[in-house]
Amino acid sequence: MAKPVSDNITWHDGHVTAEQRQAILGQRGAVLWFTGLSGSGKSTVARRVEQLLLLAGNQTYVLDGDNLRMGLNQDLGFSADDRTENIRRVGCVAQLFADAGVVCLSAFISPYRADRQAARERVPQGQFLEVFIDTPLEVCEARDPKGLYKKARAGEIPTFTGISAPYESPESPEIHVKTADRSVESCAQEVVDYLESHGFLSGTSP
Ligand code: ADX
Repeated sequence: MAKPVSDNITWHDGHVTAEQRQAILGQRGAVLWFTGLSGSGKSTVARRVEQLLLLAGNQTYVLDGDNLRMGLNQDLGFSADDRTENIRRVGCVAQLFADAGVVCLSAFISPYRADRQAARERVPQGQFLEVFIDTPLEVCEARDPKGLYKKARAGEIPTFTGISAPYESPESPEIHVKTADRSVESCAQEVVDYLESHGFLSGTSP
């Protein structure tokens, strides 16, 4: 991991340990790192998971690719270097949410394995869960909710993931959601069930 450019900076711990925070809040912070092609359903599934978790009394928040590119990451495009920087920043934000005890759902294409691995390494062991939203390119392209695949095929978007830029699938994701012929509800429930059975939610123990 790259070192800060600044000298003379010191890490400050708070008075509350991670274990105490967990006991007080009654839940374990985590990063659920949704990855998949554009149009695969990452945001849609993450949004439903967020809703289900909130309704069950859990603290959770979605970091969404398009949304963060309107603020924190508004200076970044879609070159390989910019995507890496996008994921580095999001990885840092997700780590802070998890440290605060929140179940953070991040929904970014995050096409490069090395970038996802770097995000994983920021979070304590066991608290980073890679969620592969596995929707075949043909299905994403047929859906084309934003008309971007059509533009990419017409050569109007130079580095479009799956068409003219790479996507490196996860090799061993904690949660592998195969979306083909499944409803959003069923995919979201699979994620919630995993969290419940692994003790991340309020009222469940690890
Ligand atoms: S990432 O590759 O850096 O992780 P991110 O998740 O932030 O991407 O943003 C992806 C979203 O940006 C897509 O869902 C799509 O709406 C939009 N987009 C615009 N241009 C591109 C492009 N060249 N490749 C992929 N997605 C793009």
